Amino acid sequence: MSQPQQPVATLLEAEELAAIARRLGSEIRSDYPDGVVLVALLKGSICFLADLVRQLPIPCELDFLALSAYGDGRTRVRVVKDLDLEVSGRDVVVVLDIVDTGLTLTYLLRLIALRGARSTAACALLDRQSRRLLPVEIRYVGQVINDEHVVGYGLDLDERYRNLPGLQVADPADLRAEPSAMFERLLGR
Ligand code: IMP
Ligand code: MG
Repeated sequence: MSQPQQPVATLLEAEELAAIARRLGSEIRSDYPDGVVLVALLKGSICFLADLVRQLPIPCELDFLALSAYGDGRTRVRVVKDLDLEVSGRDVVVVLDIVDTGLTLTYLLRLIALRGARSTAACALLDRQSRRLLPVEIRYVGQVINDEHVVGYGLDLDERYRNLPGLQVADPADLRAEPSAMFERLLGR
């Protein structure tokens, strides 16, 4: 028999996510009036990036990077899909879904600096500060969140739930126990 399920809760609805993209877009466009290269981390940032980029009426180029964690405690990171653009001499803003331990962001910023970027800054939809292992500066933050697993709006658990329109909080054990039933629940059906 399955265990009783924890409640699911909406963290941010589509309208609130759109407001975050507008706010951060306006900060980025005033900081980079001459243009910027946005480097989005796949796959979790896709919805956020799509909303953010349409709030940037400045010269703007997009590129994507995919990383994968491996090793003991998955504390090491390697590149799975590298940049296509040459970022040397460019101002780069990296766009992430969530900064948790800070390992991914640290790796990303170092990689882009090594490629000779003129400047780097980070833009994260969510900031889970309580789990940080490495100190990182995030110049543009959508929202600080508690130590809860979030899915939807691009964020996954085991590659599911990215297509939920809003961001929801749910227990990973519940999500894994009955993925299809939980999807219906998260959609409010
Ligand atoms: P970090 O290297 O620990 O900061 O991990 C950041 C990455 O872990 C993010 O880019 C996400 O892909 C993933 N991640 C961390 N927390 C969550 C979550 O609550 N939901 C979905 N993905 C998450
Ligand atoms: Mg993931």
